[in-house]
Amino acid sequence: MDLQTLKEKFNLKTVEFTEGEGGFIFIDVQNPLADARISTYGAHVTSYTPNGQRPVLWMSRMSWFESGKPIRGGVPICWPWFGAAPVEGQPSHGFARISQWEVGNVRELESGETVVTLELPEAAVDPALLRFSFRLELEIIVGRSLELVLTMVNASDSPQQVTGALHSYFSIAAAEEIVVRGLSDVGYEDRVVGAPVVYGHIQKGDIGIDREVDRIYHGTGAVEIFDPGFNRVIRVEKSGSAATVVWNPWIRKSHAMPDFGDEEYHTMVCIEAANASVDARTLMPGEIHRLGQKITVL
Ligand code: BG6
Repeated sequence: MDLQTLKEKFNLKTVEFTEGEGGFIFIDVQNPLADARISTYGAHVTSYTPNGQRPVLWMSRMSWFESGKPIRGGVPICWPWFGAAPVEGQPSHGFARISQWEVGNVRELESGETVVTLELPEAAVDPALLRFSFRLELEIIVGRSLELVLTMVNASDSPQQVTGALHSYFSIAAAEEIVVRGLSDVGYEDRVVGAPVVYGHIQKGDIGIDREVDRIYHGTGAVEIFDPGFNRVIRVEKSGSAATVVWNPWIRKSHAMPDFGDEEYHTMVCIEAANASVDARTLMPGEIHRLGQKITVL
């Protein structure tokens, strides 16, 4: 749907459709509870600000806004694979975040929340990356919390294994000062390249960030980011996920990324609701799986 059709079809007080960075179509939500900006390219929430708060999501000022490249920051949708592609040469974190999604529906609730539903048509996916027939939908609820629910259906006639993540980037005052709570005594895999030990770690106490951190925690629930600099706690709840990824690229890795400013590692941390590693899901023909995340400033 082009911009004009969207404007006519979803003529709502709290929603505006605009052409933004990279010529992508954005959905700007401004309701009594919060503001949010959503790119239809990638079904990507690039900003979320509850009333009276500072922005919750981090965006890189170096991000690409280019077809075929992911947006750096906000909430990338990693699907149908998490991390490196199973086939060499294919993009990291799947095709969902580098595909053009369609607006399925936009509605306002009596509660003041706005619900945006985006769908990824199979025809919009680069055929070279398509492994099986699927249906994929992202529901975004903008209110006092930001809720995302990714619904995936295996529309093929054989079992399919999928991994993925709601790869949220959070804006923080200073990486060294925050504490990530909720993962003490939980086992994790260390994904830092060259880590001497990958498996068998147990998190002792809360997590501080003072080096490159790239971990998949297993058997996880809600996590909180305690940020004394911004004087707030961000709570990240989730559903349909037993794995949580915690990521900060720190100095060496961020300097190596062209779409990430050299000092920006200092003001972000990723907490991702994931189906990754041993939490890969095998979907039978017709089976539905929902991966959800709810972000709230306490
Ligand atoms: C994280 C991974 O989820 O995403 C990291 O655990 C990876 O290993 C990071 O570096 C960013 O990935 P990308 O493809 O967006 O650069």
